[in-house]
Order: sequence, then structure tokens, then C-alpha cells
Amino acid sequence: SELQKGVKHLCERGITKVPTKYIWPIPDRPNSGNGNSSASNPNLKLPIIDFAKLQGSNRSQAINSLKNACEKFGFFQLVNHDIPKDVIESIIDVSKGFFELPFEERSKYMSTDMRSPVRYGTSSNQNKDDVFCWRDFLKLSCQPLSDVLPLWPSSPVDLRQAVLDYSKNTKFLYLMLTEAILESLGLKDITKKENENDEFREFKDGSQLIVVNCYPACPEPDLTLGLPPHSDYGLLTVLLQDEVQGLQIQYEGRWVTVEPLPDSLVVNIGDHLEIFSNGKYRSLIHRVLVNPSKSRISIASLHSLPFNSVVQPSPKLINEDNPRRYMDTDFASFLDYSSSSESKRKSFLESRK
Ligand code: SIN
Ligand code: FE2
Repeated sequence: SELQKGVKHLCERGITKVPTKYIWPIPDRPNSGNGNSSASNPNLKLPIIDFAKLQGSNRSQAINSLKNACEKFGFFQLVNHDIPKDVIESIIDVSKGFFELPFEERSKYMSTDMRSPVRYGTSSNQNKDDVFCWRDFLKLSCQPLSDVLPLWPSSPVDLRQAVLDYSKNTKFLYLMLTEAILESLGLKDITKKENENDEFREFKDGSQLIVVNCYPACPEPDLTLGLPPHSDYGLLTVLLQDEVQGLQIQYEGRWVTVEPLPDSLVVNIGDHLEIFSNGKYRSLIHRVLVNPSKSRISIASLHSLPFNSVVQPSPKLINEDNPRRYMDTDFASFLDYSSSSESKRKSFLESRK
């Protein structure tokens, strides 16, 4: 049907009302008075982590800030991240450019196969979703690079190069952050070259997925959502958002807006890292609201364990005072849950404690 062609296509046809398929039940709507997490907290701000300080002479102090941010929020703004300005500008440009392409061009990359290395689509899972989200996306798997790169869209002409540069930079950032996070968990030993073990190798050899999200301006933003409440399944997500706000985190029963901060990236802990840390670090629920007049673009770099690995709490974080809170989980069955509804997945996670 027309709706399967996505929100951008819908908007290009000049609609002034949100179709029924996108209207969320009242308790789930952005400004709903019902439910325990409806009120927003405009004063709370995410912690800011300075990447340069993590690499500098005052590392231990920076590690401490990182630890606090991961314990309290599992979400932070990263400044001085060192990714060149032109790499950031290019990925934003090609992302906008891709969604500006004629629908026929974009639709070449449409796939409903969850495991396809290149997938253009709409909502969250357009074959299953009862209510649609106001979002189109392009998902690009990043490995093995030599296999997937020729499958990435060939227009805009500089898309492949821009995604390649951006994915390499975010992978490096992810590795640096992971070392720092492991250090903040008291696990510096496993990152050392001389005793590099499987635990750390799995962090390094894991998968990377670039997700480009497009949330077109919406005539009735109070009726729908860009993305419903969810947590990210992987280890760590690095998110680049443009200057339009929309992302909110659920913190102490309230929704908190993640302000777009110039030249920053948003980093958050995923479910796998929550399990690995035995619950010390939390994978926070977040959602995306849409805007009445502005289209919004965000680019998420999702970093996960290798597909066939088993997710489990680090044995070094389990002792008498901290009993194991999660059972072993293989990634594949975890993903099956993650492609089902969010509530089902979270309860799966809880039941493993
Ligand atoms: C996401 O949660 O996957 C996307 C977040 C955003 O668009 O800000
Ligand atoms: Fe997310």
C-alpha cells in the first residue's frame, strides 16, 4: 500500500493530517497525561564527557566522570570527539541527499529481510507494526566491508565514501570508549595487549551497523512518535543528531529531552553492556518525538558483539556482594526478541535476572 512507501513519500503528497495508521493510543502519545512517565523534566541535562580528557594526563578523573555518567544515565553527550568536521558534514549531507532522492531510486534498497546488509524502510518493522512510527530509515551493515560496500546505495554519488569515513571514525571512537568503559568497571586488565583475552576480542571484532533516520516534519506531531520507547540491544550506540531536537530519555519516570549540542555526539549503553556489566550500567529507554515544521536527521552507529557470541555478565564482576543478575543469552535468540515488541524484549531481559 501507499503507507509502505514511507513517511517521506506521504509528505511529498502534501498531507495535512496524520493517517490513522500513525495515530498512537492516547497513553503513548508525546504529551499524554496518563502513564507514569508522561511528565517531562525540562531542567535535567545529560552529563557531558570530554573525549580529549579521556586521552589526556588527567585520564583517571575523566574515567570517574564516565563511570558516574554510565551508572546514573547510561547516556551522555561526548564533546571533543576528534572526528573531523568534514566527515560529520559529509555524512549529514549524503543522509539528507539520500532521502531527497526520488522514491523510485530509494525504493531499490527496500527490503523487509531483517538480516539484509542494506535495508531502506519505514516505521520500525513495517510488516509487523500495528501502529506506524513517523520515520524512514536506511540501515547499512559495515562488515565485512569488502562485501557490503558495493551493496550500499550508489547515489548520492559520495554516499559510500562518506559512510565509509564516518563508520571508520565511529568504530575507532567506540574502541577508545570501550577501553575507557572497561577501565571504569575496574576491568582495565582485559584490555591490555599482553593478556588480551577473548572477552575483549569480542568487543573489538563485533558488528557495526549504521542507521540513518529521517523524521519528516509532521502536521500533527502530538498524535504520533518518531520512534516508540525502546532500548538499544547492542553494546554501545554512537548517535549524531542534527540541530533539530526530538530524542528523549526516560529518567526517573520522566521524559528528558537530549538537547542537540553543536559538535557533539550522544553515546548510550546498550542491553549487551548492561548484561556484561551485570547491571552496573543501565541501558536506558528512549524515544523520538517529531517536529511540526522541521525535518530531522539522525545517524546511529550501533556496535554489538559478534553475531554468534554469547552475552553474559563478566565473571570478574560477579562475587558474593554482586550475585549474577543475568543468565547467558545467545545473541541470535536475543535478536529475535529484539525484533518483537519492546515490552516483550524488556521482560525477556528482566526474566534473565
Ligand atoms: C534511535 O534511538 O535509534 C534513534 C535516536 C534518534 O533519532 O535520536
Ligand atoms: Fe535507540
